Amino acid sequence: MKEIMYTPLTAKTVVDYVRQSPVAGQIFNSDEALTVVDLSDGGNVNLIFRVHSSSNTDRSVLVKQALPYARRYPDGSMPLERAKIEHDVLQLEEKYCPGLTPKVYGYDGVMHVNLMEDLNKHLNMRIGLSRGIIYPKFGQDTGRFLARTLFYTSDLFLPSHEKKQMVTRFMNPVLCKVTEHLFFNEPCKPHPNNRWTTPQLDPVVSTIYNNLTLQGEMLVMKEKFMTKAQALVHGDFHTGSVLLNSEDTRFIDPEFAFYGPIAFDVGSMLGNLIIGYAAQEAYQPDAAVRASYRTWILETVSEIWSTFEREFRQLWLEDGDKEEWSSAYFMDRYLDELFTDALGYAAAEIFRRTIGMAWVDDFVNIEDPDMRASAERVALDIAQVWLLKRREVKSIEQAIQLIK
Ligand SMILES: Nc1ncnc2c1ncn2[C@@H]1O[C@H](COP(=O)(O)OP(=O)(O)OP(=O)(O)O)[C@@H](O)[C@H]1O
Ligand SMILES: [Mg+2]
Repeated sequence: MKEIMYTPLTAKTVVDYVRQSPVAGQIFNSDEALTVVDLSDGGNVNLIFRVHSSSNTDRSVLVKQALPYARRYPDGSMPLERAKIEHDVLQLEEKYCPGLTPKVYGYDGVMHVNLMEDLNKHLNMRIGLSRGIIYPKFGQDTGRFLARTLFYTSDLFLPSHEKKQMVTRFMNPVLCKVTEHLFFNEPCKPHPNNRWTTPQLDPVVSTIYNNLTLQGEMLVMKEKFMTKAQALVHGDFHTGSVLLNSEDTRFIDPEFAFYGPIAFDVGSMLGNLIIGYAAQEAYQPDAAVRASYRTWILETVSEIWSTFEREFRQLWLEDGDKEEWSSAYFMDRYLDELFTDALGYAAAEIFRRTIGMAWVDDFVNIEDPDMRASAERVALDIAQVWLLKRREVKSIEQAIQLIK
């Protein structure tokens, strides 16, 4: 019998691959013509194909295959097993918070492929933000998703031995190491990977490079990232990991998942909304339209935190292990620390997206460098204030006041 080996799929081979997969019969009629769309350029890391019926695009499947390196940065190796982590985490997220992730149809452990629901009526949220689209359900969906997926994988719910097994199951050391460097070490001090809009941002970058307190605070955040195995975090929870429309929100791409601080996911999303807020500088030339869209973004920041906090507290009271964790005092301290840390992680996310190597389309797509720098400057100012003042900030409203 011919041994099946791992081989990267191509737009030519993926059709046969899908036809031979166990899910083909559930989606397609036998022998119907299939069309391939290569979506790999929509991300940086993996191969991604949409395969749909040539006569009806509603019959489709999304094929995501890990490569042994990151597609856009082929120099460093990346473990193929991240596809299995993505599969398992999508299933757990569906279990704890149904309806907010793509359905996974199957995982192929030889080819390191996930076959999943093709969300072809959804838009990537980064694009949505740059078009000024309001998503009325996004804030609540995000707060609820964070509360449920993080609470149910934490020590507050899981028996201690079960949680420890989960920690070892989701170690993900190589992808964690990427984050440890890209988020926390590189952006705020001179590093060959760093790049920024120059010369416009030179003064602010120089201020950051000379601020030893700021650099030390980044290490405070890094150390917590590495040691606080609090819950199964998504690990790459930004607006580019959201596909949505006005009725439906889905969170994709948990390949960076591991046991880390809850605040990392919460803060990453808040930081990305601040990036979307800052980028409106270029996308909305009309001051009144810009102000009104920015108001919606900040209301959404507030709604994410307040929904998260309310639901997390409720889950704790209803489903938490009462013998182990019943204390109103401790619950308040837990959420206080989480909030403070979320502001720190939001800042780290902004630094890596403006000075570090992980640039984002929100800013990259602003062609005029003066305009881009002025938008990035808005985000960098907020990041510095949130990181350095976070211990004094007592509520999300106060954090937002610091922006205005
Ligand atoms: N289930 C899906 N349905 C429809 N489109 C999808 C789906 N999953 C991914 N895509 C498309 O592919 C793009 C990249 O997806 P994803 O973020 O999972 O890839 P990636 O290789 O992990 O990239 P990165 O980690 O750099 O974001 C998405 O923005 C979206 O356009
Ligand atoms: Mg990814």
